[in-house]
Amino acid sequence: MDLKPQTNPPVNIAVIGSGYVGLIASVCLAEIGHSVTCVDNDTAKVVALQSGEVPIYEERLPELLARHRGQRLTFSSDLLAAVRRAEVIFIAVGTPQSPTGEADLSYVEASVREIAAELNEYKVVVEKSTVPVLTSRWICRTLLFNGAKQENFDVISNPEFLREGTAIDDFLYPDRIVVGADAERARRIMRRVYQPLIDGSYFGAPDHVPGSRDMSGGVRYIETSAKSAELIKHASNAFLALKISFINAVSNICELVGTDIEEVATGIGSDSRIGPKFLNAGIGYGGSCFPKDVRAFYKIAESVGYDFDLLKSVERINQNQLLCFKKKLNAALWTLKGKQIGVLGLAFKEGTDDVRESPAISIIKSLIEEGCCVSAYDPAAIEKARKIIPENGNLRYVDNEFEAARDAHALLIVTEWPQFARLDLNRLHQIMRYPVVIDGRNLFSLHDMAAAGFHYYSMGRPLSEPESSSRRKIDQE
Ligand code: UDX
Repeated sequence: MDLKPQTNPPVNIAVIGSGYVGLIASVCLAEIGHSVTCVDNDTAKVVALQSGEVPIYEERLPELLARHRGQRLTFSSDLLAAVRRAEVIFIAVGTPQSPTGEADLSYVEASVREIAAELNEYKVVVEKSTVPVLTSRWICRTLLFNGAKQENFDVISNPEFLREGTAIDDFLYPDRIVVGADAERARRIMRRVYQPLIDGSYFGAPDHVPGSRDMSGGVRYIETSAKSAELIKHASNAFLALKISFINAVSNICELVGTDIEEVATGIGSDSRIGPKFLNAGIGYGGSCFPKDVRAFYKIAESVGYDFDLLKSVERINQNQLLCFKKKLNAALWTLKGKQIGVLGLAFKEGTDDVRESPAISIIKSLIEEGCCVSAYDPAAIEKARKIIPENGNLRYVDNEFEAARDAHALLIVTEWPQFARLDLNRLHQIMRYPVVIDGRNLFSLHDMAAAGFHYYSMGRPLSEPESSSRRKIDQE
């Protein structure tokens, strides 16, 4: 479809939910020119946002909040007033995982019931939260059951593909925008919403946010059905998780045959049909999306009669990576009780302060259970980690990598922060009790670690022992 550049007036938008998705969507929609009210039922959160607080760790978020707060972007706990003013309503509330693995849609339904009361003229209701296929139909039914008239709304799906830590770049410079709308009227309105990105005019604005690539020709815009858009989201996340579990499975074979996964991954990823991204073997994926979305997609498939057992393997392989990592520690130290262990990384990945389903948290809990003394450091995630595992006799959070490594029998690397890869290895070697590093993210080369005198365990690669000239400590103990 060839979209003609249009110059349109700003669209009045309500965004329901001010979490990772809702807040990023709000600031970015304001950034491309729209008038946005971001609504949350947590009044304390609304007050904090109105006063200029920045609740999540995202590059450029402080800058965009300062630029648009009180101008194109307001925060409110009055959902009805925001909906009344809006032409487009984005539902961006949480869809956490239920105990049985399905997505918990109760927050979505609660906001939909409230919206129904204010659909007094035509509005587009947008699913932004990650929801199972067919949710748009349920939203439509719930609106009708709660008094809305069919002629006053259409429900569409507009899934997000935001990665934590780069969410604003991912919104403004996406690989694609997907809009799943069955009604032409709703499609026309959504094109107006995204027009500055579609025709590339946003990228010509003098104060536009610089991005990771050249989008002056406009962003790829895909229109499809609501069901297809819902499936695109879950299938995309499930495939990315599958790609990670695949390379992790291959890394286990590499260990068994004595070769290096980094070399194998380079060879695989050089195939243009595969690509090098998401082929980093390691301790496994975490976060609030992949684990939840893989399980939710399995449950969705099961509910419509398909046994998506491949996803069971994706999850099993991922969980096994943690066990592989822990086995390396036992292999390195023999017994763990009473050992001093340094841990570098708490966030589920670099570039974020989020510790949800972080491998690091799982590792620390098991170390404490084994009677270890843990010193942990992370550039951004200590405060959030402290809320989950408060400091105690066996755990302290420290200010830098060297404090984590001081007197340690082993240093564990569990989050791929680039700064960890630049550490002064000689200084590390001097302050550690044993020269043992267990790297869950393959941040170092085998050669460098051998030359620096470390017993270096990593994922999918051979054990690297100190070069003879640099051997000391363990051999002398
Ligand atoms: C993911 C999807 O990338 C994004 O499109 C979706 O909207 C939300 O979920 P996110 O979870 O923020 O984003 O982070 P991502 O960068 O995808 O990493 C997810 C996990 O996979 C992290 O724990 C990361 O360490 C791990 N990972 C990633 C690997 O183990 N290997 C890789 O090669 C890439």
